[in-house]
Amino acid sequence: MEKKYYIQTFGCQMNVHDSEQIAVLLREAGYECAGDAQQADLIILNTCSIREKAAQKVYSQLGRFSAIKRRNPRLIIGVGGCLAQQWGGKFLKKAPCLNLVFGTNNIHRLPELINTVETTSLPVVETALHGASSRSIGIRALPQNGQVSAYVTIMQGCNNFCSYCVVPYLRGPEESRKLEDIISEIACLASHGIKEVTLLGQNVNSYGNTVSNGTDFVGLLKKIAEVDSIERIRFTTSHPKDLSPSLVRSFTEIDKLCEHIHLPVQSGSDRMLKAMNRGYTKKDYLEKVTQLRDICPDVSITSDIIVGFPGETDDDFQETIDLVEKIKFDSLFSFKYSEREGTAAAKLNHRVSEPAKAERLRIIQFLQEKHTLEKNKAMAGRVVDVLVEGRSKSSSREAMGRTRTNKIVNFKGGLELIGKITPLVITEGYQHSLHGELQLKKEID
Ligand code: SAH
Ligand code: SF4
Ligand code: F3S
Repeated sequence: MEKKYYIQTFGCQMNVHDSEQIAVLLREAGYECAGDAQQADLIILNTCSIREKAAQKVYSQLGRFSAIKRRNPRLIIGVGGCLAQQWGGKFLKKAPCLNLVFGTNNIHRLPELINTVETTSLPVVETALHGASSRSIGIRALPQNGQVSAYVTIMQGCNNFCSYCVVPYLRGPEESRKLEDIISEIACLASHGIKEVTLLGQNVNSYGNTVSNGTDFVGLLKKIAEVDSIERIRFTTSHPKDLSPSLVRSFTEIDKLCEHIHLPVQSGSDRMLKAMNRGYTKKDYLEKVTQLRDICPDVSITSDIIVGFPGETDDDFQETIDLVEKIKFDSLFSFKYSEREGTAAAKLNHRVSEPAKAERLRIIQFLQEKHTLEKNKAMAGRVVDVLVEGRSKSSSREAMGRTRTNKIVNFKGGLELIGKITPLVITEGYQHSLHGELQLKKEID
């Protein structure tokens, strides 16, 4: 009987994509996917350490899995990802149920590491950070039947060292992948039915800085656009300081590039932006947004904000509110500042109290919900192209697709439309999605 694996993923799209690659490696090693953790012979937690809350979720899940292990002592439990990178061997002391700790750059060695656990019955730790280029890259999670959209890593790591952030310590220095490797991966995905790719990197705008193939990010986008049958290109994340005029122009120059940009601002206060080591001011950011909207009026702009960074006063917070009011993002992820060991900000004084952080978060989320709803309602009556992805989560009789601006649309229609770009008329805008109707042929003509 084949052994079964169960993977649980925390954190960002990079981790989601890493988990896809882990699953491919495990299937190649003869494992099959377990329906739930109870049935598994091997449990992998792909962890995140971006905020304390993310780490807490991992610890509490490990508690549940160690209870399963008490009933099944042969179960192997491994942790990968950023929290594993952070703790290394010390993780074994925190969680004695663990058999395996592997870091963010060691995914490609997973089958070998599991084998060592099986043959020696001893815990294994592998968290060497060097050589990002040798890690999972090259392993391809071939699309599951019916999948229309896929992630493609274009770069690893980060060199920006924003003062609050652990990522540069846990994912290593920035390293761009070779152009040829990216293109051949995308061509392979296209030949397996993928219509849309989302390019992943902590700061995609600096693609090319660490490979000498004469191509920058816009050059890469143009090359990807030449791959037949890829119909849509997305990317995440962009750092405002590196948003070049040529990338702004790409939104009209490259037809396949979808009109959505995730451009994390973090704060509207220049004092806070400086303390965060972000490398731009509120004015710079507002100017970039103006450039984007001048070139492409329909572009959807989403962002991240941290409230309660050390030293943030009511006036600083008002600057953030002012920025959010001025821009009216399409959607916004906002977080309470979470102190991370080893980062520059962890040494700062003037911590903001928990209740003040919670209040600021509430205010900003309330404001954003209003903007999101207004924007979604304003879509009613418009005809938009939707790439149909699958069944709707809210109703089994409806299908779900995405607009080029990355908004979810549910609509009554056949699942035979999956993988097709279909014009829909938007009938209603809600807080988290839109509702649409198929256009009758004669109406389109
Ligand atoms: N590379 C991306 C973001 C990666 S982390 C970028 O540069 O924008 C995703 C988001 O988590 C960040 O944009 C930030 O808003 C938030 N974040 C990161 N560290 C944090 C911390 N210590 N406390 C609270 N939020 C944090
Ligand atoms: Fe973290 Fe800043 Fe790098 Fe983003 S750019 S991953 S926030 S250090
Ligand atoms: Fe978390 Fe690491 Fe991503 S800390 S957000 S999983 S890069």
